[in-house]
Amino acid sequence: MDNMLSRKVTCKSHGQDSSYFLGWQEYDKNPFHPVRNPSGIIQMGLAENQLCFDLLESWLARNQESNWFKKRGESMFRELALFQDYHGLPEFKKELAEYMSEIRQNKVKFDTNKLVLTAGATSANETLMFCLAEPGEAFLIPTPYYPGFDRDLKWRTGVEIVPIQCSSSNDFKITISAMEEAYKQAQKLHLKVKGVFITNPSNPLGTTLTLQELNHVITFSIEKNIHIVSDEIYSGTVFNSPQFISIFEALNKISFNNNNNQIWNRVHIVSSLSKDLGLPGFRIGAIYSNNETLIAAATKMSSFGLISSQSQFLLSRILSDKIFIKKYIKENRRRLRKRQRVLVSGLEKTGIRCLKSNAGLFCWVDMRHLLTGQTFEAEMDLWKKMVCGFGLNVSPGSSCHCNEPGWFRVCFANMEEETLDLSVQRIRALVDSNLSIVK
Ligand SMILES: Cc1ncc(COP(=O)(O)O)c(C=O)c1O
Repeated sequence: MDNMLSRKVTCKSHGQDSSYFLGWQEYDKNPFHPVRNPSGIIQMGLAENQLCFDLLESWLARNQESNWFKKRGESMFRELALFQDYHGLPEFKKELAEYMSEIRQNKVKFDTNKLVLTAGATSANETLMFCLAEPGEAFLIPTPYYPGFDRDLKWRTGVEIVPIQCSSSNDFKITISAMEEAYKQAQKLHLKVKGVFITNPSNPLGTTLTLQELNHVITFSIEKNIHIVSDEIYSGTVFNSPQFISIFEALNKISFNNNNNQIWNRVHIVSSLSKDLGLPGFRIGAIYSNNETLIAAATKMSSFGLISSQSQFLLSRILSDKIFIKKYIKENRRRLRKRQRVLVSGLEKTGIRCLKSNAGLFCWVDMRHLLTGQTFEAEMDLWKKMVCGFGLNVSPGSSCHCNEPGWFRVCFANMEEETLDLSVQRIRALVDSNLSIVK
């Protein structure tokens, strides 16, 4: 019985039954704890950054008055408790815009009038889809992509995703021909294409897009007269060269003629503090665009997903401490780089290779040689073995819509280093058990 609920509630496009979410459910039943449950499942399927909590906590300890809604000795409580309009606190927007520039090495400047605050990138992405496409219209997305997009982009908006099939043969780079293929595929399905949606740095690849890839996306979008959404939620996690290039920086480098200049109004950035600062619970995200009509509409829509004035106040205090933020960004990168090395070198010793990465909170791991056959069934078998037999919840490539079986996303920043070491030991045991089967 559907209890007379709307079709939207029961339709399948939410993606809740994907192995990405099923793995979380398995983890919840038997979570690892070093003392209380040392044989439990280690959560390596969650892209959280827990490496710099000590820095934020010591900032809070040094700046007690921010916790008590005070600024320069005066209470801000009443001001914060009263109704906030959906434009957000001006001081917070200013600090967020400056922070966004800082993590792009100040190569891009952000104007607070073109910034809309949202409850995380989740809300920003959905709002953009709502504003840019009608139900039944499509966005092209390079694979592999973040499994949450099926829920965030499609479920409530009715927008469709058509994959741009990227391949391991060129390290999953975006090419013009792959975009053309996806465009043709959309046409075959009678879907009007409204834009290309990129994630830079990529989740799940952990790589930054090259200038050439960004130029391909821009050229393609100019030619097809469509939008570009660039989800740059991982921009502060780039820990190795090459440096991060924002879509706006790539646009800045191109000299436009009057005809294709319009693309500036069709490029939209999504930002969030969930990954850089490790604050997904605070729900702090933003949309940035030069398109005035879009900004006006998204601002009106933001009343469905505002950031509480309390969070805005606290974050405006933290972000305004420029010395702290500079140090934080540097130290966060250093710790991420170290963690990624621990995982990559640990896996290498077991004969497992990762895609060369320079960003993010995860590695894209090649386990094709551990499959019993090059099929998605074999990928699921290996995944089940990892979760149930070896206590490791990772995300299978198929949950990220990868079209080649045998790739897995493995997160490294949501646990203690000892737990990461243990997970590498468990992977080694898995590899050994597989080898004995092959023998
Ligand atoms: C690419 C990407 N976009 C958006 C999100 C959602 O982020 P938020 O917590 O800011 O809503 C995530 C979270 O994992 C993500 O990986």
